[in-house]
Amino acid sequence: MWMENQIIQGDCTQVLPQIPSESIDLVVTDPPYGVRYIDRRGRKVANDDDLKPVLAAFGDVYRVLKQNRFCISFYGWNHVDEFFRSWRSAGFYPVGHLVWRKSYASSRGFLESRHEQAYLLAKGRPAKPEKPISDVREWHYSGNRVHPTQKDVSILKPLIESFSRPGDLVLDPFSGSGSTSIAAAEAGRRYLGIELEPQYCKYTRECLARQGNSPRRADRFTAALADFGAWMEEQGHALPLDFYARAEREWHIASGH
Ligand SMILES: C[S@@+](CC[C@H](N)C(=O)[O-])C[C@H]1O[C@@H](n2cnc3c(N)ncnc32)[C@H](O)[C@@H]1O
Repeated sequence: MWMENQIIQGDCTQVLPQIPSESIDLVVTDPPYGVRYIDRRGRKVANDDDLKPVLAAFGDVYRVLKQNRFCISFYGWNHVDEFFRSWRSAGFYPVGHLVWRKSYASSRGFLESRHEQAYLLAKGRPAKPEKPISDVREWHYSGNRVHPTQKDVSILKPLIESFSRPGDLVLDPFSGSGSTSIAAAEAGRRYLGIELEPQYCKYTRECLARQGNSPRRADRFTAALADFGAWMEEQGHALPLDFYARAEREWHIASGH
């Protein structure tokens, strides 16, 4: 398929309309926050000065997502009203809120900024997990080496494992340095990233190519698990999404990997 395991360089408001409806299993994204961010090295985030074209993407994000699935979106707390209007008018409704606790202050104003946040948004009526993950999580600093607001792959991987199945297709329309796609690939999922800036696309493709050259020993287990899930579904016994994450955890413990 043209649209899997790729990082597409372009404007997601133009690329998303080309993606078939209900073809994506999970969206994990970190759009510009609308805060005109500029870091100590003078680096900026494209479209961070105008949220309109950013928020316009969520209509198509909803359309391309399958029924009874999730979109996890980071957001800027000072524009929560605009983000919420856009998510709701697309059709999403919130089913959870995640907070990452930082061990350091990323800025100081009226308060010290010591957290990041994201909403867990649902399309349709997804089944609840048997063992939900905590909504308060530890932040791991990425070092922002490649991108000024780079998320560490390790904070995204547990979300992908909890809200998708092995082999699922995970989309990030505001891909940046590709942390979502890299986490998805590490978790044995397929990925699709869209990013405006060519240098971030290049970096992500190089990381993913390196990952592809060193196949994990878990791959066969992940593939077998995906086959089992598909077979169960054919029999009319859909497994809860967290079944896969629990099975993978057990496998890691049992096999020592
Ligand atoms: C907050 S950053 C994402 C950072 C990413 N999570 C990471 O770990 O590197 C948002 C990204 O969206 C990109 N962007 C902004 N508008 C876009 C658009 N219309 N289409 C695609 N990408 C866009 C920016 O270039 C930026 O890299």
